[in-house]
Order: sequence, then C-alpha cells, then structure tokens
Amino acid sequence: MDIKQIGVVGCGLMGSGIAEVCARAGYDVVVREVNDEFLRKGLDRIQQSLSKAVARGKVTQEQAGSTLAHMRGTLDLADFSGCDLVVEAAIENMALKKEIFAALDGILPPHAILASNTSSLCVTEMASVTKRGDKVLGIHFFNPVPVMPLIEFVRTILTSDETMEIARQFGASLGKTMVTAKDTPGFIVNHLLIPYVLDAVRVYEHGLATREDIDTAIQLGLNHPMGPLTLLDFVGLDTTLFIADAMFEEYKDPRYAAPPLLRRMVLAGHLGRKSGKGFYNYSK
Ligand code: 3HC
Repeated sequence: MDIKQIGVVGCGLMGSGIAEVCARAGYDVVVREVNDEFLRKGLDRIQQSLSKAVARGKVTQEQAGSTLAHMRGTLDLADFSGCDLVVEAAIENMALKKEIFAALDGILPPHAILASNTSSLCVTEMASVTKRGDKVLGIHFFNPVPVMPLIEFVRTILTSDETMEIARQFGASLGKTMVTAKDTPGFIVNHLLIPYVLDAVRVYEHGLATREDIDTAIQLGLNHPMGPLTLLDFVGLDTTLFIADAMFEEYKDPRYAAPPLLRRMVLAGHLGRKSGKGFYNYSK
C-alpha cells in the first residue's frame, strides 16, 4: 500500500510532534483538535519546532516551508476520509479513545491503518470497537518526537503481518529506528522506565539525597541526557502517574505503585514543565 495522507488525532505535545515528522517526510497531514484554541496552540508549537530546527541547521528554510504546506488543521474527524493511516494521540482515556476508534472506523477507507500512540493503554481494546482489528496497532513515539529516534510498535493478537510491514515502511520513511512489543502495559520502554523514575521519587521522598544530587548522579554517573526527576518534569508528572497506575492495575506489582509524593504533587497541580512547577521551578 502506498501511504500518501496521514491523519493525526490530537495536536498536543505528542500529536504536534508526530504531525511535524510526518509532514517533514513529505506526507500530506491532517491534524485534528477539539477546539480552535488547542489547534492554534498545536500548530504554533510545530512552527516553533521548525524554526528551532532551521536555526540548528537540521532543516532548510525551504524544507520548513514545505512541511507547513503539507499540513492542515481541522476540528472535524470527517476530514480524515482520505487518510491511508491515522495516528491517534488524544489524551490517555480509554473511553475517549474507543469513541475515536469507532468513529474513524466508519470514516476511513477500508484499506486504512488505525494506530494509537498510547503509552500504556490496551491497544486490543481499541481494536475491539472497530471492524478492522487486523489493521490496528500501537505506534508509540517518544518526546520530543522530531529528536527521539525510536518508534515502538505494539502488535496485538489481531494485527496482521501486512499491517506490520506497512508500519515498518512508514517508520523507516520517517528515519526512525523501530522495535516491536506485545500489547502489554508499558510495552518495552515504559516497562523499564516507570519503575526507575518511581524509584527516583522514592529516593527523594525518603531524603536519601537532594533532587539536584539524584539528577547529577544519574546524568554524570550513567551518562543519561537528563536525571530522572528532570525527566519526570519533562514527561509530565500526571502522564507518568497515569502510566504507573495503568501498569499497577494490570500487574499488581509494587514496582509500579506510585509513591505518595508523586500522587500529591499531581493533586497539587505540580505537573512539571507544562505547569511551570514540578520537582523544579520553571516559572520565569
Ligand atoms: N528538529 C530536529 N532536531 C532537533 C529539534 C527539532 N525540532 N530540536 C532539537 N533538535 C536536535 C538538536 O539539533 C540537537 O542535535 P545535535 O545533538 O545533533 O546537535 C539535539 O536535537 C538536541 O537538541 P538540544 O541541544 O536543543 O537539546 P539538548 O541537547 O538539551 O537535549 C533532549 C534535549 C533531546 C530533550 C535531551 O535532554 C534528551 O534526550 N532528554 C531525554 C528525553 C527522553 O528521555 N525522552 C523520552 C521520554 S519518555 C516518552 O516520551 C514515552 C512516554 O510514553 C512517557
């Protein structure tokens, strides 16, 4: 199958990044948000990311212009009727995702592939509300999408070999390296990442070291680009808590049990960079 048009549901942090890398690769991209304000913010984020990429010599001014020309925003899922592949990157809410999958199943052409960028929810459950289970998979990108080289594919017991092959060609066309995991909460990366960042919160909560020393120890001792508490602020404490809760719900393994401090910080609105405060302060 020749993929020409891609639909992206959601233009938040992940959706805007996914739309950007697809348009950069030359696909026609339709990106849908729920209201004008969110759509404008998402498209602005893409513009800023492209300007940064131009300033760093990653893309030329012409490539940035052509990327924007390949992209259009919409508030209406019906505008996805010509899409060959859709990546859903809405908020991590199963009821909402199932609503979107059921609606898209009725809108998309029969050959189209339906993917979710979910980081922890069951892709098989999303497939179950469609009549194209063989064409449903998880395509999990990493933040920031234009910079992180990995895609994690999530293959359900329904996903066909043909769908996996098309997904692999798509991932390669974006210049990404791909790995495949079964449809279990956390896939590969979050299976390993979540216990690690939760342990970092426990170390901090129990007063073993300051937040700066925890981050410096990992950054310089293990050569990670970010320490775990900085990474939590970057990913979002609410997102991390959501993933941890989903994994704990499935496995009942204490490694995935959220430390009390993390839950309280989320309740207090300390979500990390996006709220201006998390383990560190980001307000100007
Ligand atoms: N397009 C293309 N390239 C870009 C770019 C853009 N919009 N913005 C930046 N870059 C490039 C830069 O040119 C630079 O490339 P170079 O090394 O070849 O010069 C590189 O990306 C790094 O950019 P910066 O210098 O601006 O930034 P830093 O060096 O400070 O790195 C970071 C920032 C990439 C975020 C780095 O700190 C990092 O890798 N952090 C860890 C991020 C991470 O772990 N993400 C995964 C989170 S988990 C997740 O997403 C899964 C979910 O389910 C939870």
